[in-house]
Amino acid sequence: MNLKIAVLSGDGIGPEVILQAKKALYAIGEVYNHEFVFEDALMGAVAIDKTGNPLPEQTLNLCLNTDAVLFGAIGDPKYDNNPEVKVRPEQGLLKLRKELGLFANIRPIKPYKALLDASPLKGEIIEGADFTIFRELTGGAYFGEKKLNEAGTHASDLCEYSEEEITRITHLAFKAAQNRRKKVTMVDKANVLETSRLWRKVVKTVSENYPDVALDFLFVDNAAMQIILNPRQFDVILTENLFGDILSDEASVITGSIGLLASASLGEKNALFEPIHGSYPQAKGKNIANPIASILSAAMLLEHFGLFKEANKVYEAVEKAIEYQVVTTDLKSDSKFGTNEVGEFVSNFILSKDDLLYF
Ligand code: IPM
Ligand code: MN
Repeated sequence: MNLKIAVLSGDGIGPEVILQAKKALYAIGEVYNHEFVFEDALMGAVAIDKTGNPLPEQTLNLCLNTDAVLFGAIGDPKYDNNPEVKVRPEQGLLKLRKELGLFANIRPIKPYKALLDASPLKGEIIEGADFTIFRELTGGAYFGEKKLNEAGTHASDLCEYSEEEITRITHLAFKAAQNRRKKVTMVDKANVLETSRLWRKVVKTVSENYPDVALDFLFVDNAAMQIILNPRQFDVILTENLFGDILSDEASVITGSIGLLASASLGEKNALFEPIHGSYPQAKGKNIANPIASILSAAMLLEHFGLFKEANKVYEAVEKAIEYQVVTTDLKSDSKFGTNEVGEFVSNFILSKDDLLYF
């Protein structure tokens, strides 16, 4: 297969971790005879620094005309906590999601057996947990009208959803559940929010097309508690944009490190793959950032194109790295391995190179 992949490494640790994901894809290409052509482009703070625009036209055009986008991380502390700043790196990512129509963000959560102790939660609670969050990605308060009065004393972010926006992601969530344990949990705040009541109504209607899938509802405050108390109860969690953002960071604690979590953002025509962690500026250039989330995002890219045995090879390589403790210090505080070594192990494993013994 030939795939053209736009690579937006972004800010902070983005370039270091994405490099390891590219190495894994090159290795897969070599072993399974695929050609992956990468084309780099600017987005985020690096793009603002060079062009004044967090999502330059050229980047957007490239992404619209490639098979997939591999994205690293976004954000720079110089833009945080400064209300005077008008152009922010995050606007680049939000605009890209909107322009590519990436309405569904899929975030799988599953702890590795060898890492049960890496989580601050008790092993007996998280063992066997395996769920996927379907987060709506192009609606809600993120994209509603924003207002700030002239005096700077009153602000609002409108949260809006249409039946159509809810319907399309709901179908994806139910289809995914059909291939899993056949349960969808809708998370909302229907006791307070009108948008949540619309979500419930639409999700109920769509669910009638999937009689083999059970549907239940949880209020988001309770869901936040249940994810920690009893994560095994979940199979597919379906929720709106802001709730999904918050719950997925919370759920990452189950796996031991946010540095392990990958995601796919899908639309009708386009697809983007990214780790769920941020740009972690304090770690930039230090070879300490965990590349596994990016490498697993590359595996999700392979799956998206039906390359299942290739994706499984990447999953297997990551499992081996974890089993042999070739991991970064977020997972093992006294580890002597860094970003590069983990990435090197994974690509060597894919290539079945003998120097694996070096580890
Ligand atoms: C994420 C991130 C983004 C979001 C930020 C960087 C805009 O936190 O992908 O979860 O809030 O969606
Ligand atoms: Mn987030």
